[in-house]
Amino acid sequence: MDLEKLLTDRLAPAFETVAGLPVDPVVRRSQRADFQSDAALALARRLGRPPRAIAAEVLERAELADLCAAAEVSGPGFLNLTVADSALGGLVSALATDPRLGVPETAAPETVVVDYSAPNVAKEMHVGHLRSTVIGDAAARLLEWRGHRVIRANHLGDWGTPFGMLIEHLVDLGEAEAARELSMGDLDSFYRTARAKFDADEAFRERSRLRVVALQGGDEATLRWWRLLVEQSERYFLSVYDLLDVTLTERDFQGESSYNDLLGPVVDDLERLGLLRQSDGAACVFPPGSVGRDGEPLPLIVRKSDGGYGYPATDLAAIRHRTGTLGATRLLYVVGLPQRRHFELVYAAAAQAGWLSPPARAEHVGFGSILGPDGRMLRSRAGGSVKLVALLEEAVARATALARARNPELGEAEAAEVGRAVGIGAVKYADLSSDRHKDYVLDWERMLSLDGNTAPYLQYAYSRIRSIFRRAGVVDRPDAVISLAEPAERALAIELVGFGAVVDEVERSLEFHHLAGYLHRLAVAFNAFYERCPVLRADGPVRQSRLVLCDLTARVLRQGLHLLGIRTPERL
Ligand code: ARG
Repeated sequence: MDLEKLLTDRLAPAFETVAGLPVDPVVRRSQRADFQSDAALALARRLGRPPRAIAAEVLERAELADLCAAAEVSGPGFLNLTVADSALGGLVSALATDPRLGVPETAAPETVVVDYSAPNVAKEMHVGHLRSTVIGDAAARLLEWRGHRVIRANHLGDWGTPFGMLIEHLVDLGEAEAARELSMGDLDSFYRTARAKFDADEAFRERSRLRVVALQGGDEATLRWWRLLVEQSERYFLSVYDLLDVTLTERDFQGESSYNDLLGPVVDDLERLGLLRQSDGAACVFPPGSVGRDGEPLPLIVRKSDGGYGYPATDLAAIRHRTGTLGATRLLYVVGLPQRRHFELVYAAAAQAGWLSPPARAEHVGFGSILGPDGRMLRSRAGGSVKLVALLEEAVARATALARARNPELGEAEAAEVGRAVGIGAVKYADLSSDRHKDYVLDWERMLSLDGNTAPYLQYAYSRIRSIFRRAGVVDRPDAVISLAEPAERALAIELVGFGAVVDEVERSLEFHHLAGYLHRLAVAFNAFYERCPVLRADGPVRQSRLVLCDLTARVLRQGLHLLGIRTPERL
């Protein structure tokens, strides 16, 4: 049980008595005391009483004696709460023997589909897919650790009109040459060449059109070529996931094509429900409440005027499948913010059709762009979009050089391993530590710095603790009485017992910068503690208590970074 929860449980009944209705005390960490509650301020108008008077009455009624060393009203009506050392020490001790570090398994496990990564066949993964992959993987890891049944859905773009020109280009090149180009990971040049031919050559365009028809008609030879394209791309994407330490496997590909057979039934259902309307020859749904800037209702095009199905129809079929067949109640879509409208319309249409009704709900876990140092969309030197692999390789190279310079005793193999953990960790952490709703600037210096809110800083704190235990062995007394005499010990203890509350919040918000920020505060508190409080040179009980604090810090850092998909090398 974490402190926020304990304090909330004590304050809530008192607030309820005073206010005559249930009140969330909104307990938060505070600069002035350990914690504060501002709920009295929000109640003042409703109750027609000064907030200080409300806060004072709550304090009189709340049972806080065993938990708080001080509890007082301050300012306009805040409640400032200082936790008693005995209570804090008890919580740390409980944590020390808890393999789950204060994060219990959820009492209400759900089936959650995490739709993420989702690159497009025969196209390079770009940095937008990096964000989706990194954020989505963290979500899958965290939800799984909490005990939910997580289904990873890699909604690969493996269907649609571009495949006409891609297959014709493949036919022109010959299977062997095409396979060679694609297996080199040269997806972009393959795609670009096909596109250029399509734009320049009327005969090629016509062949491409016919090829799409053959593909949709299930022509065997066409399907075989299509599969070749898909397999080569999948193999390439898997190699990127491997480099990126991402948990997606070949079993998680659930490409757009896999919903083909469901598209007809989706349209039939919508028809039967009377939800389809013709608009410019296309069959559309007009979900209520969705209007464009001009006030006109916005359509979701389910079947195009040429009879083909597009992206929206596939997403409707996917929802129907995920709730209906897979039994999922929480659907997450980790996709860039530009697709927000699309998802709003799809969710609204699915709700209308009865495929997304409570408790099932869908959430667009949107994110902004990665910007270059100039504050504009990240571009390669040649001006094109940055290849994800090039970016990752640069990170690993920089981090390996850094590791070698810092620690000349590292052997070749170990330097490479550390370089990979730090380089990849830095890229992922830079992403996850920024508010996903915003754009962020890719800054190599900052990202790889050993100071500040960075992966290397956290990894360094972890390796520092591990080096203590290389000398001390293991914690011999996990049940040691926790000594909190030094302010730095106390500050570290407060952070340690806060892990559960942060994981709880991130499980809901999927805002991983809160978890990153927490781990950073923990590492800062640890470094301050380690500077002021000798561990190995301390005497008996104090040494044992401090070893428990060190060990717990390492375990929380390791687990927290693991949830973010970041490794923790033993030495840096
Ligand atoms: N392939 C799409 C893209 O690259 C992303 C797909 C996201 N998932 C979904 N269910 N629509 O933009």
